[in-house]
Amino acid sequence: MENNEIYIEERLRNENLKIYMENDNIINIKLLQGSSFGFKHDTTTLAIKAIKKINNTKHNLDFALDFGSGSGVIAIFLKKLGIDKVFCCETDKFAVNESKKNFSVNNVNPIPDFIDNPFAQDQKYNVVIANISGPYIKNNLLEFSKIINNNGFLIISGFNCNKLDNYISTATNFSFKHHESFKKSPWASVILEKIS
Ligand SMILES: C[S@@+](CC[C@H](N)C(=O)[O-])C[C@H]1O[C@@H](n2cnc3c(N)ncnc32)[C@H](O)[C@@H]1O
Repeated sequence: MENNEIYIEERLRNENLKIYMENDNIINIKLLQGSSFGFKHDTTTLAIKAIKKINNTKHNLDFALDFGSGSGVIAIFLKKLGIDKVFCCETDKFAVNESKKNFSVNNVNPIPDFIDNPFAQDQKYNVVIANISGPYIKNNLLEFSKIINNNGFLIISGFNCNKLDNYISTATNFSFKHHESFKKSPWASVILEKIS
């Protein structure tokens, strides 16, 4: 499957996503009927897998950014993990509206602030999750690096396994070190750690 540039994932009815945690807890996320991306697609579940992994580290994950937030599923997951300061960024206004309704049905309160252009702000994050297909992530690794604190994480998803080595080696040019990768063919996600 090639990269998708249209981020629609039809949910024909309200759905409940169960995320199984290592401590036998289950995190439930409700998503309302809609077409914003982010529910059971492999790129989303691979990003969730990576978040679960860093959640088990001792790193401070507060100040997290869901870059390309779509349905809001990642931001809701972060909030349900207990991360207080979660921010979103999304270019599609329809997705922003749908995600706000999803925040509400999941009792996410206060809802995350939407940041128009995180690369143009002074704010830095301890974790940024970007599930965006196409060349956007690779073309902006320097910009991502600038908005992440040292020892913070960039989780990227939405690209094919055959690009994994190339993404990792490019990221090392921009102050990232490879932490761990996850694959579900044809998709891959990676945890990158920002080093000083
Ligand atoms: C593949 S979806 C991911 C949605 C959700 N975060 C998930 O993991 O399931 C990518 C989302 O990023 C948005 N997007 C694409 N390019 C973007 C950009 N440059 N800045 C912000 N959002 C962007 C799309 O509109 C879409 O909602």
